[in-house]
Amino acid sequence: MSNPDASHGQPGRFLSVEGIDGAGKSTHIDWMADRCRESGREVVVTREPGGTPLAERLRELLLHEAMGIQTELLLVFAARSEHAAALIRPALARGAIVICDRFTDSTHAYQGEGRGVAPAWIDQLEAAVLKRLRPDRTYLFDLPADIAAQRRAAARAADRFEQEDVAFFERVRAGYARRVAEDRGRFLCLDGRESIDALRSQLAADLRRLGLAG
Ligand code: ADP
Ligand code: TYD
Repeated sequence: MSNPDASHGQPGRFLSVEGIDGAGKSTHIDWMADRCRESGREVVVTREPGGTPLAERLRELLLHEAMGIQTELLLVFAARSEHAAALIRPALARGAIVICDRFTDSTHAYQGEGRGVAPAWIDQLEAAVLKRLRPDRTYLFDLPADIAAQRRAAARAADRFEQEDVAFFERVRAGYARRVAEDRGRFLCLDGRESIDALRSQLAADLRRLGLAG
């Protein structure tokens, strides 16, 4: 089944899930995948940075080693290049639904708005590395940074990004809002303060609207 609306031109569907750390992404991804599998299609769940053995090694560096911002940016795109070529594009070519925990919007939000990298530089890397590969739909979990910090503190130890302060995460959050304003049709924005059940009914309705869940 072809998917003529997709910017990537492949028969599969590419979904990404975004938001600041602690906004609630991971809570829903496997559940979304199960809803999609009920439609009988192949579903591939993956994440960034990561998704292939080499990209997972780059993830370890990104999350735990001190480094300059240019190194960080280029490592993010090195991991993404590997991930796109080895996992995402082949899955989309097979007709699979790919659900990716973070993609290029994270780079615009974290390295761009969070760390101050010029958006044009990120756009150049995106064009060179990904060509037309972008998600068909992006689910953005929005949550004030102070609430997200409380949820993270209760849930897990902090990595290099999660050690950043509330002001950093408010910039990242604003970076996401800017991405939404630039490409409204691609995003479904979810209020992370709502209950898990309320969020799931919005996700299920959207997956049905896209023809990806029954
Ligand atoms: P992320 O993947 O975006 O970093 P998680 O899904 O790991 O976030 O959620 C962070 C914490 O918040 C977890 O302890 C999770 O159980 C909790 N949580 C997730 N969604 C909600 C929600 N809607 N309401 C209250 N707590 C939530
Ligand atoms: P994540 O998988 O959400 O971490 P966790 O499993 O601990 O919730 O994301 C890893 C971190 O990588 C997150 O803090 C954001 C950061 N990141 C970037 O800074 N830029 C990027 O392009 C991507 C994909 C992630």
